This record gives sequence, C-alpha cells and structure tokens, in this order.
Amino acid sequence: MKTKDVNFLEENLTRINKALFKTLPEKENSRVTEAIHYSVMNGGKRIRPQIILLLCEMLEVEITSDNVDLIAAAGELIHCYSLIHDDLPAMDDDDYRRGQLSCHKQFDEATAILAGDAIQPLSLEVLTSLEDPNLEAKTKLEIINLFARACGPEGMVEGQNRDILAENKVLTEEELDELHYLKTGKLIEACVLCVCLMKKNIDKDLIEKLKTFSNKFGLAFQIRDDILDEIGDEETIGKPVKSDLKNNKSTYPSILGIEESQKKAELLIEEALLILDKLPFNTEKLNALCKLVVNRKN
Ligand code: IPE
Ligand code: IPE
Ligand code: MG
Ligand code: MG
Ligand code: MG
Repeated sequence: MKTKDVNFLEENLTRINKALFKTLPEKENSRVTEAIHYSVMNGGKRIRPQIILLLCEMLEVEITSDNVDLIAAAGELIHCYSLIHDDLPAMDDDDYRRGQLSCHKQFDEATAILAGDAIQPLSLEVLTSLEDPNLEAKTKLEIINLFARACGPEGMVEGQNRDILAENKVLTEEELDELHYLKTGKLIEACVLCVCLMKKNIDKDLIEKLKTFSNKFGLAFQIRDDILDEIGDEETIGKPVKSDLKNNKSTYPSILGIEESQKKAELLIEEALLILDKLPFNTEKLNALCKLVVNRKN
C-alpha cells in the first residue's frame, strides 16, 4: 500500500511497530521466540492497528497514546498469529508471507504452530496488563471479551473452517459474505468496537454506524485480497499469487469474476464513505484509508 500522500499512516506505522516490538518476548530466548519476532516484525500493512489509532483520534478517546498503541498492537498480534497458521501445509500451504519465507518454511511446522499459539494469548496478556486512569476494569474486560469472540469458534476460527470446507465447492454470494465476515471482518469489527468501548458516553446510534462501516470496509478489504490473489504482482503482495486457485478456494473472483468483484468492493467502500461523511467528526484520515484499501496493490 502506498503511503506517500498519507504521511499520517507512516507516522502511525512507526508507533505501531514500536508498540508491537515492546510486547514481544526476548528474541534470543528460544527458537519459538525467534519465530515470533520473524513473523511479527516483518512489514505487514498494519491495517487493523491503523484503524484503532485513527478512530481513537477521530473520537478523541481519553486514553494515553502509549496505551492506544498497545491496544492496537494487541489487535495486530491476533492477525499475525492467524497468518502463521493460515500458511501452514494443513491450511493454505503457502511458502511466502510478507515478502519472506512463511514461518513454517523458515523454521519448521512445529515451531510455526507454537509461535502462533504463543502470539494469540500474548495479545490477551497485553490487554489485561493495560493500566490507564481512563480505562475502567470493566471496559478492559469488555475489550478482551470482544477480541476473544472475534477470533474464537464463532469468529475467525469458524471463518477459516468454512474457508477450508468450501474448497472445491461453489458458494452463493451470501455464503461467501458470511465466510469473509467471519474470517476477516470480525477482527476488523473488533478493532472498531474496542474504540467505541473506550469512548465514554458514546451513543448507541454511533456504535451501530461504525459497526456497519467496519463491515463494509472489512468485506471490501477481503474482496480486494481475493482479487490480488489472482491479478497481483507476487513481489508486491509478498505472498504467492494464485494460491486460492491452487486450493480451489471459494473467493469473490471465483463466483463473480474479477470485474464484478472489484465493482462490489468499490461499492462497499462508497457506502462506507457515505457513513463517514454523515458523522459529526473529522473523518478525513479514515476516509483516506478507505480509499487506499480498494485500489491497493498489496
Ligand atoms: C491478509 O491480511 C489476510 C486477510 C485477512 C485478508 P493483510 O492484507 O492485512 O496482511 P498484512 O498484515 O498486510 O500482511
Ligand atoms: C486469511 O485469508 C484470513 C485469516 C488469516 C484469518 P487468506 O488465506 O485469503 O489470506 P492470505 O491471502 O493468505 O493473506
Ligand atoms: Mg486462508
Ligand atoms: Mg492464505
Ligand atoms: Mg487471500
């Protein structure tokens, strides 16, 4: 994703990467900790933590910026774990991730499984360890509950389960929407809703609008991912192209074709932007992020 015209994303990226590094165990401790560093500090786009930072700024959430960064890092850690396991031979069997060998290729399968296993509770450890005068214990619990549900058996894991079961099958568009919501959308939604939880006296209507926004954004994000799997440049996306074809996955291009899929992603982002436009906040930065998502090359 090009961030040349959106300097704020570069600045946020530095904050996010610093916070992520702070959350990790010593790299030299073991082969697993080495694999953890290898798989987390490796140049992801950091879209999920970017959303958390931008929304906290937009809603003027009264949490210290160090703690905002840690919450953002916790969201990204869950994502990093999911990518390590997603690449395993038993899942998508992909050898490259973020422009380098996938974790199980660089290390071995057992190490990759353990690194993923470790990163997931690490994110919950980060959240439980937060201390902030403006973050009540109850809110902290709600945030942890939110992330746990997003990645658990009724969230990302179920999405990944359906993704595997859908190999060699043709899903309806509705089924695919649901699958994409579970495997990708729910974590993005959790990143949005955790900020809502931290905003004191936020009204229900605003939460609903932001939730709808996140669902449109999340689906557009995964549709674009499906498209890039077919027409992306391997070096730019940093992972193998045509991996979905190799596994005969149910993807947007597989049921709608590339053009229709891109149209759907663009429509979803237009709708997401309309929601933002009507909010009584400065939505400029979030707006810019939305526009990047649908034309991104990686
Ligand atoms: C890839 O996510 C997997 C999906 C859920 C679409 P990203 O495209 O956010 O991957 P990174 O974190 O930038 O590598
Ligand atoms: C992965 O979706 C979703 C999760 C990791 C939960 P994909 O399998 O499409 O992601 P990529 O294309 O390998 O990044
Ligand atoms: Mg997958
Ligand atoms: Mg994959
Ligand atoms: Mg993909």
